[in-house]
Amino acid sequence: MTTSPEAVGPDAATPGQPVLEATGLSVVHRTRSGPLHAVSGVDLALYPRRTLALVGESGSGKSSIAKALLRLPPPTTGTVTLDGTDLAALSPRALRAVRPRLQMVFQDPLSSLNPRRRVRDLVAEPLDAHPDPARDRDREETVTRQLEAVGLPPALFGDRRPHQLSGGQAQRVAIARALAAGPRVLIADEAVSALDVSAQATVLNLLRGLTEERGLAGLFISHDLGVVRAVSDEVAVLQLGRVCERGPTEAVLAAPAHPYTAALLAAVPEPGRPLRDTGLLPADPPSPPSGCRFRTRCPLADSRCATEEPRHREVAPGRTVACHRPLVGAARA
Ligand SMILES: Nc1ncnc2c1ncn2[C@@H]1O[C@H](COP(=O)(O)OP(=O)(O)O)[C@@H](O)[C@H]1O
Ligand SMILES: [Mg+2]
Repeated sequence: MTTSPEAVGPDAATPGQPVLEATGLSVVHRTRSGPLHAVSGVDLALYPRRTLALVGESGSGKSSIAKALLRLPPPTTGTVTLDGTDLAALSPRALRAVRPRLQMVFQDPLSSLNPRRRVRDLVAEPLDAHPDPARDRDREETVTRQLEAVGLPPALFGDRRPHQLSGGQAQRVAIARALAAGPRVLIADEAVSALDVSAQATVLNLLRGLTEERGLAGLFISHDLGVVRAVSDEVAVLQLGRVCERGPTEAVLAAPAHPYTAALLAAVPEPGRPLRDTGLLPADPPSPPSGCRFRTRCPLADSRCATEEPRHREVAPGRTVACHRPLVGAARA
């Protein structure tokens, strides 16, 4: 592994205004044993035709972030803006009107597809839920277009029911349904984790192509750094509810700056296998330690890491890391 600053040249520049921007996002879950701080102070911005990957182990807060962006439920603190509008400021009616612009696909497509409905009716669901006369004038054509976009010819697949689909095909139906809503933002939460390797590749290529063709802003959530490489322009690494490193995907994966990212990369054994089970990365402590959240698991931790929480700083153009002892950049303390 070598540091390659060339890899983060002009491509690293973020284009234009973000479609969706989250600032200071925190999510606290109420549990029987008290408040659980799942997400603490996360900032992120999604741009048209770009995909940000959010990676981290199971329990690091990825789904809590996705749900907070959709206000299901809203974040405990922090703001989320869509095209500059603060979602918290919208009336329930106005929020319902913007909801179709934020679409999400989940890990298990079958659980989100009504088993009794046919594919063409499943894809039309957002049209029925949020009628828009201009868009829905030709419902049939809209459905056909989305099915073709995900590579499922309507003549072959339109009349099938979910149990007549493979896992990859079902996920493509879920994506077609999300597209039918006319989204600006597409959030995929572990959307390929349950698929076999070849179906993963199909769905990843599809997501990659669709963000480009439809000008979507993508948020791709995964515990698997291997799949992130195929789909994202930028990556943010989440550890115990905080982003510990972010930057252009190729640069971060070629030379991780945070020891946690390096450990995640070293722990990528085979697609889909939970990182925690690899034995390469010690388990998270039950609650975040003082100072750096990774220090009890970090081979490089020193006394400063125990007392002082590291802040994000730039280690290369477009790359920041919250670490006192980053593996990349001259400012190694
Ligand atoms: N609805 C909930 N109630 C209580 N705790 C929750 C809830 N959802 C998630 N958590 C807890 O919040 C933490 C982050 O969970 P989650 O966002 O699902 O992480 P990830 O998607 O990265 O696996 C975990 O400790 C999880 O147990
Ligand atoms: Mg999750």
